[in-house]
Amino acid sequence: MHQSVQTQGGFRPVQDLAWTAEMVRPLADRGVGTPATFLRKSFVVERAEANAVLRISALGLYRCFINDRRVGDDQLTPGWTAYDARLSYQTYAVGPLLRDGENTIEIWLGDGWMRSQMMWGQAPLFNVWGEHVAAIAELRAGPGDAPVLLATDGSWQSGELPIRKSGIYFGEIFDARLRPEVSAGAEVLAYDKSILVPHETTPVRELAPLPVVSSWTDGEGRTVYDFGQNIGGYVAFTTRGEAGARILVEHAEILDPEGEFYNVNYRTAAARLEYTLAGGGDEDYRPHFTFQGFRYARVTVEGAAEILSIVSVPISSVTELKAAFTSANPLVNRLVLNTVWSQRANFIEVPTDCPQRDERLGWTGDAQVFAGTACYLAEARGFFTKWIRDVMADQREDGAVPHVVPDPTRLKPEHYPGFYGSTGWGDAIAVVPWQLYLHYGDRAILEEALPAMVKWVDFVWSISDGPIVSPPRGWGARGFSFGDWLQPKGPSAKPLPTIGDDAAATIYLHITSTLVARIARIIGREDVAGRLQGMADAVKAAFAREFVTASGRLCYDDQTSYALAFLHDLIPEDKAEAAKQYFLATIRRSEGRIGTGFIGTPALLPALVKIGEPGIAADVFLQEEVPGWLYQVKMGATTIWERWDAIQPDGTIYNPQMNSYNHYAYGAVCQWLLEGVAGFRPDPEDPGFATIIFEPVIIPELSPVQASHDSPRGPIRAGWTVEGDQVRYTVEVPSGSRGLLRLPAGSRGASVDGEALADGAERELAAGRHEVRFRITPARRLELDLVDINARTP
Ligand code: BGC
Repeated sequence: MHQSVQTQGGFRPVQDLAWTAEMVRPLADRGVGTPATFLRKSFVVERAEANAVLRISALGLYRCFINDRRVGDDQLTPGWTAYDARLSYQTYAVGPLLRDGENTIEIWLGDGWMRSQMMWGQAPLFNVWGEHVAAIAELRAGPGDAPVLLATDGSWQSGELPIRKSGIYFGEIFDARLRPEVSAGAEVLAYDKSILVPHETTPVRELAPLPVVSSWTDGEGRTVYDFGQNIGGYVAFTTRGEAGARILVEHAEILDPEGEFYNVNYRTAAARLEYTLAGGGDEDYRPHFTFQGFRYARVTVEGAAEILSIVSVPISSVTELKAAFTSANPLVNRLVLNTVWSQRANFIEVPTDCPQRDERLGWTGDAQVFAGTACYLAEARGFFTKWIRDVMADQREDGAVPHVVPDPTRLKPEHYPGFYGSTGWGDAIAVVPWQLYLHYGDRAILEEALPAMVKWVDFVWSISDGPIVSPPRGWGARGFSFGDWLQPKGPSAKPLPTIGDDAAATIYLHITSTLVARIARIIGREDVAGRLQGMADAVKAAFAREFVTASGRLCYDDQTSYALAFLHDLIPEDKAEAAKQYFLATIRRSEGRIGTGFIGTPALLPALVKIGEPGIAADVFLQEEVPGWLYQVKMGATTIWERWDAIQPDGTIYNPQMNSYNHYAYGAVCQWLLEGVAGFRPDPEDPGFATIIFEPVIIPELSPVQASHDSPRGPIRAGWTVEGDQVRYTVEVPSGSRGLLRLPAGSRGASVDGEALADGAERELAAGRHEVRFRITPARRLELDLVDINARTP
């Protein structure tokens, strides 16, 4: 149970209560990378209050026990925020744990995100948000401002734990022969308690454990376990053996071409567990203050011990699935599942890029491209609201939004100067709140974040002091941009065009200034709306002058340029038809394969549909060669890969220096499967699914398609089947909503619930189930000349 403890009946809500407790550090603590420690206090209560409430937080990660029983089952508490500006606390009902008379409370503390390694191996950062682990806890006899029974102060005791070392990247060393013994006292830290905030999102929880799918012994006698699914989480095992025997667990996402355990791509993240047995019976172990990204675990047993059972335990802040999409194509269905698992593994307190290597950071660009999909697949309102508040806390004075949030480089810039301000990444400050508005009708986050959005747009404009943004090339330079990160460029001997940073940055300045103007209008800030719209119009005009040639070709002539420019109306009317032909030429040039990276990819298929080429969009989506969505599924992926070519067709593994098998960014295609193919989306004019627009994209070879989403207004369902040119589209509108039906261009002979619908007409749909029938004209598909230059050229 959390924050909202009985705020009725005259009690002041707990979050408004001043803290009587102090932030206290264990004097037994010897600093980062040393044994974890605990704080302990014995206390007497006359009568154990059934409604007793504990408020608690920590610097570092904590676990709390009252009379040796764990408080709650949340993982990695208090969570991860920009700790110097905001620290989450949790509230638990602990009445059942108390007893009359003598009680003991113990708070275990681990290094966590606060002080264990952050950033990658060449320049690892430690103690980013502080050197001292500490805790603050307050026990009250009941909810609200009930009497305080106990509060952390200088009288608490401390000692070391059996956890001999722990770190987010490192893993954990646990010596079960040791018992928590008091060896020192505690010290009150000077701490600004006003930055303590009630935890704003669902807690990190364990999902159902995954059993071993297969296991084998390798050449060195180690046992490799395959759990069949790449996750973010940890192993849990039961062992039996002699005291002092050791179990060592390593983790991997893939096997190499020889079938060997492979985790070079983890870089400096050790991601290992070491457990020393106490002996004398069965012993259960799972780590406390870390998690790993893995599908395979390799276990080495040193000494006389055996593993009796082992499972893989996924953890996530998103435990409930809120959408589904199925079709006749098993690769497509698996791709959706892979996206679900990548979200679970990368929504652990913060939207991260990956869960396995020495990174696992809140990359803003990845979050912005994935935000829409994330809100469909899970309840993400609290999760993103919390994160956007951290984005605002980490935003620089001049408006630059950092590359990652929470941002370790803000407090420790020496090794990562200028780690902020990239277009396509910083735009998360506007795009994520906009998705919360669309999906949940949340105006409050728009009002709260508007000033930060405007500061960001002004920052981008200031990069080149005008509508054309020319980012410098050097990492760390003011205005550096990732462009269209990881955009494929085809064979090195005969590379395909890619977008220039200036075009990518200028397009994003247009996207976000337009969006922020719209947001300002919605919340009644006409002054801001006017200024931002003026900037957007200036950028559009400048874009046409700078990047659109007289023939209608865009100067970089790559897929990302056309996809983003068409999707965001940057192509001048009179050049649209010509530009469309150039766009289609870029698709043919790559034999229908993807030619877009992190920011281009989410725009590619919607842009092709927008220019009236749903058939070409279908061909690009359904082709199974690299680069492509289905290629990785065909290659056995169980999550979304960071790179299109993470494993080559011959099994060769791409360079491990940046090669994660669990990055959700390219999973953003699921938004198109739901909004495009199944065809339902929130109406921005009536958000939060009050009005749902139904406008499917029919891809006959995917029939039957079935999709659903548990929206804030109730379950939405949409699905279609195709026989010949006849489509049957069935939709369900939740009771609290209305539907707006828009049939694909070229549909004819339509009827809704048996009632004819004029070609091209829209139809309002009341709550309930509706059957729509219409005939389609087969869409143009990609004809490719089978020269296949890409495969032949190295
Ligand atoms: C991260 C990505 C990020 C990219 C931008 C990578 O290291 O994993 O998620 O978007 O850097 O540079």
